[in-house]
Amino acid sequence: MSNKRPTWTSKYSFILAAIGSAVGLGNIWRFPYVMGQNGGCVFLITYMFFILTICFIPMVTEILFGKITKKECVGAFEHANKKCKYLSYLNPVTAVLVPSFYFVIGGWIIHYIIISFIGFKSKNPSVYLSEFVQNPILAPICTLIFLFICIFFTARGIKKGIEFINNVMMPMLVVMLVILTIASLHLPNSYLGLQYIFKPDFTKFNSHMLLAALGQAFFTLSVGMGSLLTYGSYIKEDKSIVKTAYTIVFSSLIFSLLAGMMIFPAVFSFNLAPDAGAGLVFVTLPKVFMQIPHGNFVATVFFILLFCAAITSGISMLEVPCATIVERIKLSRIKACLFLFVIIALIAIPATLSFGILGDIKIFDKTIFELIDFITSNIFLPLNTLFMCFVAGWFLNVNGDMIFKNRVLVNVFNIGLKYVVPLILIFLIYIGLK
Ligand code: PFF
Repeated sequence: MSNKRPTWTSKYSFILAAIGSAVGLGNIWRFPYVMGQNGGCVFLITYMFFILTICFIPMVTEILFGKITKKECVGAFEHANKKCKYLSYLNPVTAVLVPSFYFVIGGWIIHYIIISFIGFKSKNPSVYLSEFVQNPILAPICTLIFLFICIFFTARGIKKGIEFINNVMMPMLVVMLVILTIASLHLPNSYLGLQYIFKPDFTKFNSHMLLAALGQAFFTLSVGMGSLLTYGSYIKEDKSIVKTAYTIVFSSLIFSLLAGMMIFPAVFSFNLAPDAGAGLVFVTLPKVFMQIPHGNFVATVFFILLFCAAITSGISMLEVPCATIVERIKLSRIKACLFLFVIIALIAIPATLSFGILGDIKIFDKTIFELIDFITSNIFLPLNTLFMCFVAGWFLNVNGDMIFKNRVLVNVFNIGLKYVVPLILIFLIYIGLK
């Protein structure tokens, strides 16, 4: 095994992979339904504000952290300060736990690609979904297939795996998203959906919405798990990353917007409710697909689109523990990936079954799936981000000078990194735990 660290083939490979990481189920599955539950346009405005300000700082810092240290997560923290390595293990741990619930939805998507292709049964989509998620054999098999695909491409390495999959899937994703959005905008009364997204109703502004937008912003930018740090550590050029960072932020924003513009016009056109929650994509949209011409074809394209988005993000998560195992324990990539397959499967299968036969197992009043989602989203992701900002700002001396030329922006960045963002994160963790 060669000890040489891999690097991206070009700067664009890194940008594409980072966009692939950012744009995922968070943008296309989660964003529309959280927006639907939180008042539409005001949520969008708040989310935009957060990704351009508060979340931008830790995102750039995470990339810089990897780029400066050129090490996987734990090594990078150790480089900054020996003692910091202990808490940094929470990054790969989070990057094992998040896929354990993220890939459950990935499994649902695989199933929906197949049933869209075969043709939706005339059954009520909500009955269909609940029957599928409760199936103790089919649902775990779908989760395992999704996990296997992600592990397979992670095991192939940076060039043949991660770069390859992003080069293929990201353009496909863009084309499919644009075509479906145009088709959706041509449906009768689609303007009602656009109104919902773009006409603010400020009475919907409340603290719950604010927190939902902040959590969503962090999640869609892939901050807090070491993915961007690990990807950043493979950058070889010594160029400024500010343009790259803006490209990632704007791409994530555009994908979320397009997802909203694809989903809400269709939902409103058929007089369906925009606030159906997590079932928006799996229950509400199939109702639309069952009524439009060539519905099965459109549904298949839609679920393939979701699949591409989920795979490129999933791989970026797996790269974190994979790189840690390869560089610290010195296992080969293949062995590291086999190990990860087993560990994630052992957590993801109970998480999948918690929609059915394990549904009665409740810890702190939450099912296994809900518990993993809660612990990672509300505690681990903000805690990792807090720790990363702290170490980068105070030990690694990450500084606004490394990113901006303008003095004001440099100062805003430095104050943001050392004080404002950490305070907001502490508040976020406190609220999340309440
Ligand atoms: N940003 C991804 C999404 O929106 O689906 C999720 C994600 C990927 C979060 C990688 C964190 C991460 F490190």
